[in-house]
Amino acid sequence: MELEKIDKIIEKYSSDSSSLTSILSEIQAEYSFLPQDVLKRVAEKLEIPMTQLFGVVNFYKIFKLEPSGKYIIRVCLGTACHVKGAHGILEEFERKLKIRVGETTKDLAFTLEKVNCLGCCSLGPVAMVNDDHCGQMNAVKVNSLLKRLSSSGKY
Ligand code: FES
Repeated sequence: MELEKIDKIIEKYSSDSSSLTSILSEIQAEYSFLPQDVLKRVAEKLEIPMTQLFGVVNFYKIFKLEPSGKYIIRVCLGTACHVKGAHGILEEFERKLKIRVGETTKDLAFTLEKVNCLGCCSLGPVAMVNDDHCGQMNAVKVNSLLKRLSSSGKY
């Protein structure tokens, strides 16, 4: 981990602890998660206890302590998608990826998450792969989607 890069981000905010969420957001944008040694450096530079830092990291769901997969799959479990079988879609992803929701595959290819609404309820059940919406999902589409992403070799 390049601690000089971390120091530069912190210095950009004048080492001001009130900018902690901005500092953490920028670091996470750089590394895709918040590694332990980086958090330790942030705490040292801002002169705040690790407990305070973890309090902020755990409060905001956007912060991740583990690396995410190349493909982040978000399955909507909002009401409109729920009534159209979203839980079955989520279970199919879990079964095929051999992970539970909230987990990442060992090869860091896929992270599986659940969300409450993706804003396109008429397309339900909906999943998202990174920034792309996948509407009217079913088990066949889950399998072909995963096959296509796996064979693309982009991760
Ligand atoms: S409830 Fe699923 S997109 Fe709105």
